[in-house]
Amino acid sequence: MRGLIEIDGVSHAYATAAGPLPVLENLNISVPENEFAAVVGPSGCGKSTLTKLVAGLMMPDEGGVRLHGQWVTSPRSSVGMAFQNPVLLEWRTIVDNVVLPLEIVAPGMPQRTRVERAMQLLEMVGLAGFERKRPSELSGGMRQRASLCRAIVHKPEVVILDEPFGALDAFTREDLWQTLRNLRREEPFTTLLITHDLRESVFLGDQVVVLSGRPAQTQYTLSVDLPEDRDIEVLYDNRSVDMLATLREQIRIAQGRGRPDTIAEAS
Ligand SMILES: Nc1ncnc2c1ncn2[C@@H]1O[C@H](COP(=O)(O)OP(=O)(O)OP(=O)(O)O)[C@@H](O)[C@H]1O
Ligand SMILES: [Mg+2]
Repeated sequence: MRGLIEIDGVSHAYATAAGPLPVLENLNISVPENEFAAVVGPSGCGKSTLTKLVAGLMMPDEGGVRLHGQWVTSPRSSVGMAFQNPVLLEWRTIVDNVVLPLEIVAPGMPQRTRVERAMQLLEMVGLAGFERKRPSELSGGMRQRASLCRAIVHKPEVVILDEPFGALDAFTREDLWQTLRNLRREEPFTTLLITHDLRESVFLGDQVVVLSGRPAQTQYTLSVDLPEDRDIEVLYDNRSVDMLATLREQIRIAQGRGRPDTIAEAS
């Protein structure tokens, strides 16, 4: 079946003072509509580069990315993004940060409608009552919740998440995994998540793609065979334990395959 996101033979190199730096090499990933792909791989292998290509912020040297069968050549309003650092605007309140994508993609929408939509999401993630605060008045986990709301406020078909939970403590992170699953149950969207956390990849993913060291290739794809309705205990299930062992082994191989400087960069 053709995916809603098709990463098709993508190769990319950066021009650097020392010459071209090949980062991605013939990468192929297919994510069916409303499914969730988690991408893991050694530090510096090219994961954030991949998110920029899927978001249309950059064009690959070879191959391409299709969304719904259409080549991505520039940023699309049908895509939402969230990053490791929530990058909320400090001079705007939380609700005004969340409505921002609507101001861009739906300029004619009345402000009251935008705020209602933002409030509906803020309630779903447990931030009702904090909408008039500034980002600096919230904890890291709360800021990340707000940035998830901002990523999906305009009902994008595709959401790209580049290590959004990386800076959070383990408990907050698990809480947010559940929040993200709840949000997707209410309003499904096709998701590409970059993560360093194998448990996160198994808990959230329908598939986990392991990238090799730089230049990154698709080294291994795991299909996550767990019930759709999961809670965190599912990670103690034998099936999860086996999947985590397989992924850990694949990461070990990926690290060995990278060029030596890939590993030195891992700090
Ligand atoms: N604009 C750029 N110009 C030149 N080199 C770049 C540029 N952006 C990234 N790189 C290099 O490309 C490689 C891949 O970077 P990228 O940020 O995609 O890796 P990553 O897998 O996201 O790493 P991490 O796991 O640490 O977030 C790195 O070696 C990085 O130094
Ligand atoms: Mg990165």
